[in-house]
Amino acid sequence: MAVIAFAGASGGPGVTATALAALLTWPLPEGRRAILAECDPDGGSIAAGYLESRVLGDYGLHNLEVAHRRHQLDQEFWQQLIVLSENDAIADRLLLPGLSNPAQAAGLSQTWQRLGVLFEQLQNQEPGHDVIVDLGRSGATGTASALARSADIVAVVVRCTLRSASAAKPRVDALRAALEVHGRDSGRLGLVVIEDGPFRQRDIAEQLQLPVFATLPHDPKAAQVLSHGGDGGRSFGRSPLLRDARAMSERLRSLAVQEQQRLHAPVLRPQTVLDRMKGAVNGAAR
Ligand SMILES: Nc1ncnc2c1ncn2[C@@H]1O[C@H](COP(=O)(O)OP(=O)(O)OP(=O)(O)O)[C@@H](O)[C@H]1O
Ligand SMILES: [Mg+2]
Repeated sequence: MAVIAFAGASGGPGVTATALAALLTWPLPEGRRAILAECDPDGGSIAAGYLESRVLGDYGLHNLEVAHRRHQLDQEFWQQLIVLSENDAIADRLLLPGLSNPAQAAGLSQTWQRLGVLFEQLQNQEPGHDVIVDLGRSGATGTASALARSADIVAVVVRCTLRSASAAKPRVDALRAALEVHGRDSGRLGLVVIEDGPFRQRDIAEQLQLPVFATLPHDPKAAQVLSHGGDGGRSFGRSPLLRDARAMSERLRSLAVQEQQRLHAPVLRPQTVLDRMKGAVNGAAR
């Protein structure tokens, strides 16, 4: 029932590692599934990183451009997913691998918006899917920003350093403006703060004028597994990063559900003087 987009800025704040941690810890009541779509126009990194190029075959976002031109995006999308669930038979955590070459992004300029529509529709299909989108550093502001606009929640990943906050500032401003221009409430925008650096998360939130949706610890050991693969062993699942990612995922999902309820709530128009006069006239005529 939710579409959550993660965005970042230069300096590799940890968007992909955070989005992957979200997929691996996403709350999945029976029958639901989660998909991580690596839609970073600068290229994906999970296939060569976390998966260490172990998956053979030609899967991923780059195949969707042609599918879109042939009006086959909806069918072809499912052929491009890789199962990341521990138990293959359940197949409830799925990955759409990102571009292997950033040059492929130019061809997708017409496809992003259609992909956003597909993600929104996936929520309501049976079985229902939650979609996590990695927008990378430039996806939030270029043509891929159509995905940010269609998401229920957009979380900007930032570290507690001046450099990270300064890099995030223009992107947050652009994102806020893009959401407002399209009539979407910028209240859907917030931060995932990685506790790495001298600043307090309160200072970062103030600087960027955004609420903190969640915080994650600086945990290089677990992050290394998410970024480069390798056997993290049992300690990976129990690492501080995965533990806090579980809480982040719960929180983001509940924020997204709240946002959907807010959007679909009936609009109560205040009664105007004219309405009251009409009511009085109708009453007198009866
Ligand atoms: N919570 C964390 N604690 C410690 N290190 C982290 C954390 N999250 C990510 N990292 C590390 O930071 C580096 C960058 O992470 P990642 O590739 O996820 O960033 P990114 O924002 O997606 O970068 P890019 O813009 O290049 O796509 C990696 O070495 C990763 O292991
Ligand atoms: Mg990345």
